[in-house]
Amino acid sequence: MNSNGFKRHRRLRRTESLRALVRETKVTKDDLIYPIFVVEGEGIKKEVASMPGVFHISLDYLTEEMKGLEAKGIRSVIVFGVPHEKDSQGSQAYCEHGIVQEAIRKIKKDIPALTVIADTCLCQYTDHGHCGLVENGEVLNDPSLELLVKTAISQAEAGADIIAPSNMMDGFVAAIREGLDEAGYSQIPIMSYAVKYASAFYGPFRDAAHSSPQFGDRRAYQMDPANRLEAMREAESDIEEGADFLIVKPALSYMDIMREVKDRFNAPLVAYNVSGEYSMIKAAAMNGWVNEQEIVMEKLTSMKRAGADLIITYFAKDVADWLNE
Ligand code: PBG
Ligand code: ZN
Repeated sequence: MNSNGFKRHRRLRRTESLRALVRETKVTKDDLIYPIFVVEGEGIKKEVASMPGVFHISLDYLTEEMKGLEAKGIRSVIVFGVPHEKDSQGSQAYCEHGIVQEAIRKIKKDIPALTVIADTCLCQYTDHGHCGLVENGEVLNDPSLELLVKTAISQAEAGADIIAPSNMMDGFVAAIREGLDEAGYSQIPIMSYAVKYASAFYGPFRDAAHSSPQFGDRRAYQMDPANRLEAMREAESDIEEGADFLIVKPALSYMDIMREVKDRFNAPLVAYNVSGEYSMIKAAAMNGWVNEQEIVMEKLTSMKRAGADLIITYFAKDVADWLNE
């Protein structure tokens, strides 16, 4: 206590260099994972309507795009494939020469130092748009696992450094771990979408990935936003099944969940700053209503303060530019 009876917190806020000395949380380029959408065809670099600044790119532009990321100091990408062909089994997801497999091969050949994370799901590849096999209007659990395992192995064969399953079937971590091990990929880590809520914040992504469910919604496999304890059960089972990283998704409405998952499970924690969170800021910034750089840095800093070690974000390129300034 001071002689005048109160504490002077402002002493440590007086100058920028003092503030830097006591700053508890920092966002760095090593924290960033950049999502990319790869499409079939040639000469394509097409902006996603609902995500200004995010593009569909074809394989022939991939190397240039990845070199651009590398030059900014971004060292990890998560790859989403947008195939031409969809069918009820999502067969393009686990095809040796599928769009994602070809993209991974190309990146690892041309820019081997970049860490390539493969999103493992079926929804971009199924004609019904669900993340697993459908029968009588229901998404089947165990039969879907087989296809997800095949998908993960085909991605590892193509050279993926990390497998990131996002499908929310029960037991997907155990099944994929076993499948990878048997196929000789015991060194490939699993970054599990352990806690994934059925969220309205995914809207723009489904536009980008052409992955909207054609009937119903995903509430029978993704989580209810009202539930916290259930999130802990999801994270716990994924750790038991061998997950190396845990993802909480979306990020901004779920900071309490991130903090608790980090404290309880002490595993590398990834915040997925999803498409709706991106597009809302973009729209407001484009209208001149908010300062984009300040808002984005505040939000990402808050995710790290909430316990995230890594952040998957469509803002990664902008953030790297700002950090490089
Ligand atoms: C589905 C998947 C989703 C996202 C990535 N993969 C959610 C969904 O459509 O249910 C969302 C990513 C984002 O919104 O940025 N496997
Ligand atoms: Zn999916």
